[in-house]
Amino acid sequence: MLIFGHRGSAGTHPENTMISFEEAARAGADGIELDIQLSKDGVPVVIHDEKLDRTTNGTGWVKDRTFYELKQLDAGAWFSDKFKGTRIPSLEEVLVWAQGNSLLINLELKTGIILYPQIEEKVIRLVEQYGLTGRVIISSFNHYSLVETRRIHRTIKTAILFSDGLYEPWKYAKTVEADGLHCHWPIAAYPVILDGAKQAGMPIRAYTVNDEARMREFMTNGVSAIFTDWPEKAVRIRRG
Ligand code: G3P
Ligand code: MG
Repeated sequence: MLIFGHRGSAGTHPENTMISFEEAARAGADGIELDIQLSKDGVPVVIHDEKLDRTTNGTGWVKDRTFYELKQLDAGAWFSDKFKGTRIPSLEEVLVWAQGNSLLINLELKTGIILYPQIEEKVIRLVEQYGLTGRVIISSFNHYSLVETRRIHRTIKTAILFSDGLYEPWKYAKTVEADGLHCHWPIAAYPVILDGAKQAGMPIRAYTVNDEARMREFMTNGVSAIFTDWPEKAVRIRRG
């Protein structure tokens, strides 16, 4: 079972920042998960919420700020004074950093509330530019984004995100030409889902698994990967 640091190492570091991704790598995670939105001037940036208020010292919509304006904000102090001065990364910064490691990279396109123009194209071109198409999985709760991703790139891995009991999701995923299932963790405990996905040869990756007992369960029940805010803890448990 693979371990993805969710938003980096969001339990210990400010989510979706370089220092959080670095911590996930240091902890021995196999991959990182990060959330992508677009700035006003169309730059893919790494931040979970459509609004700045929760995780920065800014307010309002990400989409209304230029990349330069977003870069002025503090994305660490909300978490702890220790991280004051931490900035919102661009996707490009993460991809440049990823040149120096072998982590898997799950890019979650946040296209559910804001329909960012050409976000799929912009993200894929950057991933191609840095030669990372083989290490990237693109996921979204908006499955139209996955269809668009597949239209643009025939082989890059994609995965449907879903949170409830979608019926036979491995069949549905094929209708949007996705390669994997990223589900809310309770779904990854359904035997019928585990069996069906296994028979279809489709990986199940569960978010967000922070409880030790759940980590242990998923390490043996056939789940392919977990996303966790606590990669160090998950790695320690996996080592036994
Ligand atoms: O990609 C897995 C997980 O991150 C999906 O939910 O809200 O944490 O982005 P969220
Ligand atoms: Mg996410």
